[in-house]
Amino acid sequence: MVRLTINGTPIETDADPEMPLLWLLRDRLDLTGTKYGCGSGLCGACTVLIDGRAVRSCTVPAGTVTGAVVTIEAVADARHGFTPDQARLADRVRRAWIAEQVPQCGYCQPGMVLAALALLAVDPAPTEPAIAAAMTNLCRCGTYDRVRRAIRRAADDRG
Ligand code: FES
Ligand code: FES
Repeated sequence: MVRLTINGTPIETDADPEMPLLWLLRDRLDLTGTKYGCGSGLCGACTVLIDGRAVRSCTVPAGTVTGAVVTIEAVADARHGFTPDQARLADRVRRAWIAEQVPQCGYCQPGMVLAALALLAVDPAPTEPAIAAAMTNLCRCGTYDRVRRAIRRAADDRG
């Protein structure tokens, strides 16, 4: 049995508590926006937020999660599971991602967006080194420059 709060909704499933959170999200809850890349905590494709922190869900047994989980599905409408401040930040990040046309194939982008959200929540005006330190997700399409531009744009956007 696993009990979680995901995107603001309490969830109870009979999943094995040892099941990685990533599998629970994708295979049991059909939240397939969270992607599987390496399965080893290296690439960041599976990044979700747990209590606002970016976490690689492939490495976390679902039964050990006590905090509120937010996935990219929540960012899609910036409401579920977010406080009003987080929702405004999610809107800014989404606008910036679109304005900078960040994605190429898109596979890494859910993890990138959530890592950026976690960064901007604690550091609203991150320096280049701070961005580099926080954004360790991998992108096989090489969108790194656009990711950085989008983060700077979101930081500058107070509208
Ligand atoms: S799939 Fe989790 S870090 Fe790569
Ligand atoms: S946009 Fe293709 S892997 Fe990043």
